[in-house]
Amino acid sequence: MVSLEILLPIFDVYVDPRNQNTLILNNVSLETNESELSLQVPIVDEIPRFCESGYAENFGDQWNDFTEDQFDDSNNAYKELRLAEQTLQEPFPFNLEKINGKTILEAGSGNGRFTYIMLQKGATVHSFDLSHSVNALKKNMKKRGLWESVKLALAQADIRHMPYKDAHYDFVVCMHVLQHTPSPEVSVHHLWTKVKPGGFLVFDHYRLKLKSLYPPIGGFGNLFRHLILLLPYRFQRPVCDQFVKFWFPVHWFFKDSELMQQVLMRLSPVRFYYPWLNLPTRQAYFEKALLDTHDGSTDKYHHVRTVRQMCSLIEKLDNVENFQVSKGGNGLLVWVQKTKR
Ligand SMILES: C[S@@+](CC[C@H](N)C(=O)[O-])C[C@H]1O[C@@H](n2cnc3c(N)ncnc32)[C@H](O)[C@@H]1O
Repeated sequence: MVSLEILLPIFDVYVDPRNQNTLILNNVSLETNESELSLQVPIVDEIPRFCESGYAENFGDQWNDFTEDQFDDSNNAYKELRLAEQTLQEPFPFNLEKINGKTILEAGSGNGRFTYIMLQKGATVHSFDLSHSVNALKKNMKKRGLWESVKLALAQADIRHMPYKDAHYDFVVCMHVLQHTPSPEVSVHHLWTKVKPGGFLVFDHYRLKLKSLYPPIGGFGNLFRHLILLLPYRFQRPVCDQFVKFWFPVHWFFKDSELMQQVLMRLSPVRFYYPWLNLPTRQAYFEKALLDTHDGSTDKYHHVRTVRQMCSLIEKLDNVENFQVSKGGNGLLVWVQKTKR
């Protein structure tokens, strides 16, 4: 157990999300010293908890069960292909090596696969997630000797009430998250306030495609998700898992036929990536299907946007120097640069 006093410089990064006022470390909480506007943020397991998991409970459970999923160093295929690094590179306007020495705010960090890469590349990373996935992130950083690094500050917090300084970050990075927030437009506006002049907001978003529609045009998973969300929380995971156990052998049998996978996608909710991934074993594909089917079927918010909608959202932000919205990744890849003052 690391003494909280040793971690004092790390807690310095947080401010009161309501008014940007300084917070003071008081035993096992961060507090304001104003009596009428008091705030007490518990520090549990060395992580300040500005909120509870709320609508992202499912994500938290998932990342704690599949703690190391998609880490480039935890799985042969990921290691060889460096898939997490490639995914993070995609929306950036230049080579990732350039984040060395920069200060990054990472919103919706999940189990920390991208946090790890950014730390390895020499950035200082202030990471947060709404859910208790932060516990999995801590475990992963501890395992890799980075938990006590002064370059990492981790909190449980919400994009809509961020406890970080305005106009402070070289990069605000938000990967695979915004479509899962109640309003991606509102979330983008919040994230933009944290970018410093000349800095960048970098994110991705699901794109409206034919596949996003209901069957027979789109995938069965889109319908399945609505059905799963009608179930009480405790049944959602077991029901998803049962569907994967039933359908996985069928997907596996036709694993070399892209045509059959297209047909199956309209009948089965299972996310099956054989044609696109190079995992070492059948079991690895099965576990990936368990994770991704749960991930794609239990997210409370699942927005899609067109290129045009995303451009018009960005045009409404203040002080935009330059931006790009392109198709790619899991839909849209976006970077926006703030004007230098
Ligand atoms: C699909 S996961 C992606 C995690 C990670 N960025 C990655 O790609 O590996 C989405 C994450 O967004 C988080 N999230 C959703 N809404 C959020 C919000 N309002 N504030 C912060 N995090 C949020 C969820 O808890 C979840 O961990």
